[in-house]
Amino acid sequence: MNLLRPLLSLEKVIRDKPFNKILSIGPRSESELFLLLANGFRWKNITALDLFSYTPKFDIGDMHKMPYNNNSFDIIISGWCLGYSDNLKLAL
Ligand SMILES: C[S@@+](CC[C@H](N)C(=O)[O-])C[C@H]1O[C@@H](n2cnc3c(N)ncnc32)[C@H](O)[C@@H]1O
Repeated sequence: MNLLRPLLSLEKVIRDKPFNKILSIGPRSESELFLLLANGFRWKNITALDLFSYTPKFDIGDMHKMPYNNNSFDIIISGWCLGYSDNLKLAL
């Protein structure tokens, strides 16, 4: 996942990786999450949201109406997902 490279170049991310709470929106499969795990994020700090799921690790929901409180995450990533939005302002 190319999004990870620029993210991992940020000093604050490198330093705080084990503590950062990260949300992946639209990962589709767990492979995106395993990549985060392999790069130093902790499984318990990784949350995933998608419209469908085959695994309990994903929360099922819509990025336009997320089931999380404000400021729940330090980092949010989303690869090839915003293109499916019909309301970019709300999704962002
Ligand atoms: C093209 S896949 C991208 C998968 C992966 N992130 C990648 O980079 O390969 C788009 C994903 O976004 C999810 N998605 C589309 N609209 C969504 C929405 N409104 N809320 C949450 N997830 C959404 C789809 O279910 C799908 O899993």
